[in-house]
Amino acid sequence: MKGVLFNVIEDVVTEALSADAWDDVVDSSGVTGAYTSLGNYPDGDLTRIVIATAAAAGLSEDATVRLSGRAGFKHLMRRAPHLLEGLDDWKAVLTSLDSIIHPEVLKIYPDADVPRFEIVADGDALIVTYTSKRDLCVLADGLMLGCGDSFGVELSVEHLTCTNKGGASCTMRVAEDG
Ligand code: HEM
Repeated sequence: MKGVLFNVIEDVVTEALSADAWDDVVDSSGVTGAYTSLGNYPDGDLTRIVIATAAAAGLSEDATVRLSGRAGFKHLMRRAPHLLEGLDDWKAVLTSLDSIIHPEVLKIYPDADVPRFEIVADGDALIVTYTSKRDLCVLADGLMLGCGDSFGVELSVEHLTCTNKGGASCTMRVAEDG
């Protein structure tokens, strides 16, 4: 996993809890905490950090990952603001993930291993199929909620099928709330 994602989680923990809380998370999870944005680090570090952060915040692991994505979206965008240029709403962002956003990410981080997103319209909603060996659909869920926030829109994400629950794929229905 690219260091930039660990940098974003550090931003979120520091903002939501404190800088000391991040130091405590690093200490208690037994990771080095020295993440450079371009470096690659074990996926297991993310799991350990999530477990320690969940304990510190009093949240479940899923809620911690989802919140990290939701609150992390703006921190991720801060690092590459040009990626959203010309994308005027959340649907444009999601439908550009595979064609523009993650391909651009691969230019910045050539050895990144980005997930795949297939998007199909369903009335006013989008059906999003997420594919990755990392099974981080909950992180994708949170990033999509954060994407909605960045356009001032409250989204709902319903998990229809999930590889973490024995499904053959991860599909989510994403729609504007209310
Ligand atoms: C709503 C928008 C986005 C969603 C739903 C999304 C989703 C994800 C997810 C779930 C991962 C975790 C890895 C995996 O699942 O295999 C990931 C990885 C990544 N994404 Fe995105 N992403 C979004 C936008 C962006 C943007 C705007 C950037 C630009 C900075 C970005 C950069 C990355 C990077 C660098 C990785 C790490 C890949 C690696 O570790 O090798 N993503 N993305």
